[in-house]
Formats: sequence, structure tokens, C-alpha cells
Amino acid sequence: MKSLSCRRSLSRSKGSHSGGRNNKNRNKNKISMLTGVSTTIPRCVLVLLGWYLHFYMLVLVDASTAASTSATAATTTTNTKKGLTVESMNQNVVKMEYAVRGAVVIEADRIKEELKKEHDAVTADISSSSSSSLYPHFKKIVYTNIGNPQSVGQQPLTWPRQVLALVDLPDHLGVDHPAIATIFPDDAIRRAKEIKAIGLEGHGSGSYSHSKGVQLFRHDVVSFLQNRDGPMVPTNPEHIFLSNGASAAIANILTVLIADSTCGVMIPLPQYQIYSATIDLLGGRKVGYYLDENNEWNLNLNELERSLKQAQDEDGTNVKGFVLINPGNPTGGVLSKQTIQDVVQFCSKHNLVLLADEVYQENVYDESSEFYSCKRAAYDTGLLQSNSIELVSFHSTSKGVYGECGRRGGYMELTGFDDTVIDQLYKLASASLCSSLDGQIMTSIMCRGPNPDDVSYESHQQEKLDIFNSLKKRAKIVEQGLAAIPGISCQSPKGAMYCFPSITNMPPGAIEEAQQRKIAPDTLYALSLLERTGIVVVPASGFGQAPPGSNRYGFRTTFLPSEQDMARSVTAIKDHHLEFVQKYS
Ligand SMILES: Cc1ncc(COP(=O)(O)O)c(C=O)c1O
Repeated sequence: MKSLSCRRSLSRSKGSHSGGRNNKNRNKNKISMLTGVSTTIPRCVLVLLGWYLHFYMLVLVDASTAASTSATAATTTTNTKKGLTVESMNQNVVKMEYAVRGAVVIEADRIKEELKKEHDAVTADISSSSSSSLYPHFKKIVYTNIGNPQSVGQQPLTWPRQVLALVDLPDHLGVDHPAIATIFPDDAIRRAKEIKAIGLEGHGSGSYSHSKGVQLFRHDVVSFLQNRDGPMVPTNPEHIFLSNGASAAIANILTVLIADSTCGVMIPLPQYQIYSATIDLLGGRKVGYYLDENNEWNLNLNELERSLKQAQDEDGTNVKGFVLINPGNPTGGVLSKQTIQDVVQFCSKHNLVLLADEVYQENVYDESSEFYSCKRAAYDTGLLQSNSIELVSFHSTSKGVYGECGRRGGYMELTGFDDTVIDQLYKLASASLCSSLDGQIMTSIMCRGPNPDDVSYESHQQEKLDIFNSLKKRAKIVEQGLAAIPGISCQSPKGAMYCFPSITNMPPGAIEEAQQRKIAPDTLYALSLLERTGIVVVPASGFGQAPPGSNRYGFRTTFLPSEQDMARSVTAIKDHHLEFVQKYS
């Protein structure tokens, strides 16, 4: 500070040096005071002397600054004690588990790096042979651990990207470019202009939006919902919040639900881990209810009542919410109309806020099943009209046939919530300013594609159908391939993007080794599968697969890699399974 003020006063005196006659005289006097030399010395000499002194002082100041900086640096480097350690940090984060990106994926990333090094070495030295590889059975890692379609080869739909690109481009390079109509279809240009002028009010996609999301886009969600559930089912754009994927909306709802450490939320087991992880993070209680594997991963009311009663009566949990994932992750199950109606009635009866995770609503492959929304069930049972249900439904651009996970688009719709709670949720959303504009645009396009008489309509529909049909085909490849492996049993994946097989002949030797290594037997299995085949699956224990004591072991695989990769994968899974069982029997 001292040196800083010294520097400032110096620069002030330099400024005054260039002032008028009075200043010049004052400077003359200052210099004679400093030097003790008479003012009869020629002016040019005095000026030179003044500059010399000025620079001398600057050097002194810089030296003292440097000295004080290095003194500070010395103190800083000697204090290596960390203020934040894993012991002192938020223990809820430490406790939180997220198997989808857990130990098996970390190992997969390591092997991928090794394969790359091996490949680089072979390319650099053509005399070496690839047979010296540590992983002779595979050349690449096949990631089937996460529902991230475009990361494993799915191509983006054309029209949504055209609109998005045009909205993102500055007008003169995009919608107003003289040659634009030769590159982009007319309907994409029109839609981009509408989004820019009406949706974004001329601000472009780089501005924050309303914290609930752009109003035009929320109206698109309303139209989508009314097409899906029927125009008689009321929908209010003020009750729709666009979000960064479904995840951000899920986190916000759980944040308002979990008021203290006695609060609990019912979650399906097996479940998608965002729920257990976020509940742990917020310090709440997970109240699991088991899905019935032998009944196509359905849920039954007795189990719901059992789980709720146990949590309330035995554990004193204040159960406030209920999560339903339909179509199911990780199960691939699709729930019947009757089951959904049972669930809305159960939630209404017990005053539970129903969190309807419907991100896979477009992913139903089984011809005898169909997606039936909780909102429609609330309407069909009359609960919506009598205002006796609190329901929040989530949807996302990450799934369906869009697979635009990285855009972070999604929304939640609130039904039957108290207005004051909606205000608080709005405040919470405002604290994050707004969700990603690219995600909002993608959500709008997912909800309102090209019109049937638009030039891109047919090709857009065809692209969506091709992706859907291929997913359906891949679901079958995996189902049939796994069913052909003795010791693996798998429910048919009717929807979503996953198979959740169980290993019915986990050898005792593997269980023992897993115990010694302090890992779950199915983690041992998944690691072994990875090392043998390069396929990354998630151990089923990460999803809370079955009631304690049932000794279920298994894994979750997506069917997102290409049809060719999936066909190769099931053969490799079979080879590995036979070897694994033989090795540990
Ligand atoms: C059931 C379920 N809900 C929510 C999400 C979150 O998706 P996003 O945040 O990308 O919309 C996922 C992602 O896999 C999921 O499987």
C-alpha cells in the first residue's frame, strides 16, 4: 500500500510537471529543495535532473514492491495447509454416489488412453505389431454406460440444427444474408426469424431470458402438451419452467421439497441415480420402493403402501414426494394406464408431490405398450379437476429421437401447486438467471417442428422415424443377444434406452474375490467385462437393484451404439460371460 501511494504521488507530480507557469516555478523550487542546488543552473539541466530523480524513485518503488511481493510469496508457499479438505467439505457431496460415471468409467477412460498410446506407437513405428497390445480382444472402448446418443454416433436431426444455427448466427451472416435461401430451407429461415424477432425480441441468443424461459417457447410447450393429452386438459404457460435438461428442474423441485433432514422422497428401486444423488446432497432421506422384475418391472400398490408406512412409522420420516420414472431407467419398462392411475391416486391420498420423470416418453418400442402421462391420468381420475394432486412432470431434449444431451434443454410443468410455492420456485429459477438459450430453442423445436405443409416436414419426420426404428431394432438385438446367454436373464426393454439384465449364475469365487477387493460382485463383473471386451456397462448395484438378501447381480447397458457395434457387443458379452463363470467357478 505504501509503495502504491508513493507511486500515485509520483505520477501526480509528473502530471503537474507539464502544467502552466506557476507549476513550473513550483517544480523549480521543489528541485532546488531536493538537490540543494541554486536555481541559476540552466533549465535543461534541471529538467534532466528532474527526470533522473523521477526514474530513480520509480526504480526504488518497483524494487520495494518486488521485495514485498516476494516476501508475501514466501509466506504463501510455506503455508501448504489446505483450507478445504475432503474431511472439512460438505459431507453430503462426499456421501453422494453416481455410478453412471463411476469406477468402471474411470477405468474405461484409462484403457482408452492406453489404446491411443498403443495406436500412436504402432503408427510411429510400422515395424511393431498390434498383437503386443495389452487388450488383444478389442480396438476401441464401446460406451454403453450412459444415455448420451450423439456421443456414440447418433447424428443430429437436420432441421432443428438449421434453425438453431440461423438463430445463433448474426443476422447479416444468417437470416439476412443475400444467399441464405440457397443454403437453408425456407421454413428454417422463417422459424429462425420468428424466434429472433418474437421469442428473443431482437436480443439474439446470447442474452439472458426470462427465468422461466422465453414466453414463445413456453407456449410451444403448451401446444405440445395439449396435442399429447388433449385440449381439454388445462395447461398454463406460467406453470412451465424451461430448464437445463430435466436435471436442473429435478434438482430445484427436490430443493424445495427437502426442508430438513427428516424429509424423505419415495424413489423407485432400481432408480436413475439423479434422485438418490440429489437427495443425498440436500441431506434428505431416500425412501425406496421396489419394482417387480418378475412382472416386467411393474410397481404394485402393496409395495408402495409398505414402503411409505415403514418410512413414516418406523423411521419417523416426513415423506413429501414420490418419484415415478416412466418409461423406466434403468429397467426399460413401460407402465400401464392402470398403474399410472394407481400412482396418481396413491400420491393424492397421501399428500405426496408426484415427480413424473417422463423424459423417455417418445421411446416406447413395444407395440402393445403406450406412453400415458401422469397429467392425463390426473385428469382421467378427476384429481386434476378437483385440485387434489400436486404433480410436476419433466421432459428433455436429451432423449427421444433428438438426443441433444449437450444442449441442456428441457422443462417442467407444475400442476396443482400452491401459487405461493410457484412464486418460490420462480425465485429459485431466477437465482440461476435462466436456462441455456440453445437448450430453450431446442425444446421449442422439439415441441413444435416444421408444419405439415412446410418443405422440411417430410424429411424431418423421416429422420425421426429412422432413428426411432433403429433404436427399436437395437433394443431387440440386445434383448435377444442377452437372452441367448446361459446365466443371464433380461426383461424385454419396452422403452427408454436401456436393458437391465441379471446374472443368475454369479460364481461364488467371484463373490469372494469381490469381498476381498471391497467392491460389489457386479462391479467385479463389469470391470472384467471391460478389460476383456472394451464394453462399458454400469454395475446394477449402483441402481439399488433389489431388496436386501435377494442377491441380485447384474448390469445396465444402453442400446445406443450402432446396430453393428451392438451386435458385436452381445457376442463379446457372451464370450466374456462364459469365461468369467468358468474362471470363478
Ligand atoms: C430418467 C432420467 N431422468 C432425467 C435425466 C436427465 O436428463 P437431462 O438432464 O439430460 O434432461 C435422465 C438422463 O439420463 C434420465 O435417465
